[in-house]
Amino acid sequence: MMLLWLLACGGGEEESGDPTCVEPPVVTWDSYGHIFMTTYCVSCHSVYNVDHRFGAPLGVDFDTEADLIRQVERVRVRVIEEQTMPVAGGVFADDLLLFERYLGCLGE
Ligand code: HEC
Repeated sequence: MMLLWLLACGGGEEESGDPTCVEPPVVTWDSYGHIFMTTYCVSCHSVYNVDHRFGAPLGVDFDTEADLIRQVERVRVRVIEEQTMPVAGGVFADDLLLFERYLGCLGE
């Protein structure tokens, strides 16, 4: 009887002790950068999109992290400093903060 009680208690602790619920968000390409670029940029800036780019220059694409790294200074200016990309705006404040942090983590 005592043993059963211990087992049940141990299982409960494991669930509530999950560290991913309390740690700050990790901002890598896989956990954040890719999702950000897909949400805010890739609808116009994708190598797979040649017909409906809404004027986005050919060659300015963000399908991969390598694409982003190659153009990271312009991305920082347009998204963080001037906030003129995406063209219609609309980046949530939280996303701006996390994206700025993600850019800071590139190359670290
Ligand atoms: C609705 C379409 C659209 C979306 C979404 C969009 N762009 Fe653009 N982008 C454009 C157009 C049009 C231009 C060319 C005109 C200009 O530079 O303002 C451009 C140009 C650019 C350039 C090249 C010009 C420069 O300043 O070096 C960069 C870099 C860029 N966009 C980054 C981004 C990033 C990063 C995102 C997402 C946060 C994004 N864009 C989202 C349409 C878009």
